[in-house]
Amino acid sequence: MTESKVDVLTPVLTRNWGDDRAWTLAAYEDQGGYEGLTQALAMDPADLTELVKDSGLRGRGGAGFPTGMKWGFIPHDPDQPGGAKPNYLVVNADESEPGTCKDIPLMMASPHTLIEGVIIAAHAIRANTAFIYVRGEVLHVVRRLQAACREAYAAGHLGQDIHGTGVDVELVIHAGAGAYICGEETALLDSLEGRRGQPRLRPPFPAVEGLYASPTVINNVETIASVPSIVTGGIDWFGSMGTEKSKGYTLYSLSGHVKAPGQYEAPLGITLRELLDLGGGMRDGGELKFWTPGGSSTPILTAEHLDVPLDYEAVGAAGSMLGTKALQVFDQTTSVVRCVLRWTEFYKHESCGKCTPCREGTWWLVQTLQRLDSGQGEPGDIELLLDLCDNILGRSFCALGDGATSPITSAIEYFREEFESGMHTPSSVLFPPAASTVFAPVAAGGVS
Ligand SMILES: Cc1cc2nc3c(=O)[nH]c(=O)nc-3n(C[C@H](O)[C@H](O)[C@H](O)COP(=O)(O)O)c2cc1C
Ligand code: SF4
Repeated sequence: MTESKVDVLTPVLTRNWGDDRAWTLAAYEDQGGYEGLTQALAMDPADLTELVKDSGLRGRGGAGFPTGMKWGFIPHDPDQPGGAKPNYLVVNADESEPGTCKDIPLMMASPHTLIEGVIIAAHAIRANTAFIYVRGEVLHVVRRLQAACREAYAAGHLGQDIHGTGVDVELVIHAGAGAYICGEETALLDSLEGRRGQPRLRPPFPAVEGLYASPTVINNVETIASVPSIVTGGIDWFGSMGTEKSKGYTLYSLSGHVKAPGQYEAPLGITLRELLDLGGGMRDGGELKFWTPGGSSTPILTAEHLDVPLDYEAVGAAGSMLGTKALQVFDQTTSVVRCVLRWTEFYKHESCGKCTPCREGTWWLVQTLQRLDSGQGEPGDIELLLDLCDNILGRSFCALGDGATSPITSAIEYFREEFESGMHTPSSVLFPPAASTVFAPVAAGGVS
């Protein structure tokens, strides 16, 4: 990698990932870890919330909601609804969206970055108890967080009267049971309370009636892990990266048919072209066919969007969403029909069943896509898919249903002819699966 390419990167969260035993407290503190906590504990909680508001930090969990504003919704006046109840902070570490793979490496490499952020955020919203809700399957991450949590307690960073400041923060690491829907913040709360994870009706919003019917802030891992750097670096430093409305640095997860997949930490507004350049380009012989800007529930884009700045506004204007910044890159060997079928099977499987459009609609979507994938599509199947999507989008109880329609409608928009081919030719004939596997380079003249 040339020096100019490296210059594009802004390693903040990833800065210490390569350090020896980076996940330990000693290694983290050697690099200045917990200095943000010291500064934050000396601050008034309201000022801390204001700082995060002024920084322009937006939630990194998908929707990009302004973090400081969310913290500001927590009622502190006992006469306000919820104002007399305890407040809770919940970190959403459920990370299950296909392609999304940033929070798990972050927690493995540097769990203390997250824990430091948790303590600062809890102080800001005056919460004495915080939870990290981790996806159940990643037992290694649960263990790493638990070990880091024990270290933080032993060092006096967590617990009662932290470093004599009078601030109390208890942290619970909670493992979910492995359901994508438990990443939806209100389903997460139900699951955390011991119930089956299904989304709640809003209002009331979690800021007023969240966990145990008390005011609750729910934030993504990367969002909370970004907070210590904002406290130590300041809002000017943070705002010196990114764009006017999408400030700061972020983790872009590059995967698929690219030479060097991985986490690329860069300012918001970088383009896929630049990221691909950093990732060594497409694999040999590969040409970009389509990609997701932020996981499988964000509409796909194509090579014509290579220069779209990857920030919330520009990706939205291009007809998609920045989402989780999970850039899944597919080359010409990939069947868009097969890929969309795989994603839709995931949504059908993960549909919690609470509402009819999503529960029934995702089942019908899979049936229809399976026909087209196997070359047995019927006339009218494309219209049927679009009609099903139309009946799911905006009519489902939560965003899982909406997300399930994104890859389908966008794929039909850009690759309609491939869906038409599904009326007579299986996708496995048009695009042999062996050629699109990421484990084999594309050889000249095809893949053996
Ligand atoms: C089906 C579904 C799954 C989700 N999964 C996650 C997840 O794994 N992690 C996450 O942070 N947000 C996830 N979200 C978004 C959360 O509901 C919520 O917006 C987010 O945790 C807020 O954090 P932020 O403001 O820091 O971005 C999901 C949303 C939906 C609809
Ligand atoms: S949209 Fe799907 S996941 Fe969401 S509540 Fe309805 S059935 Fe459940």
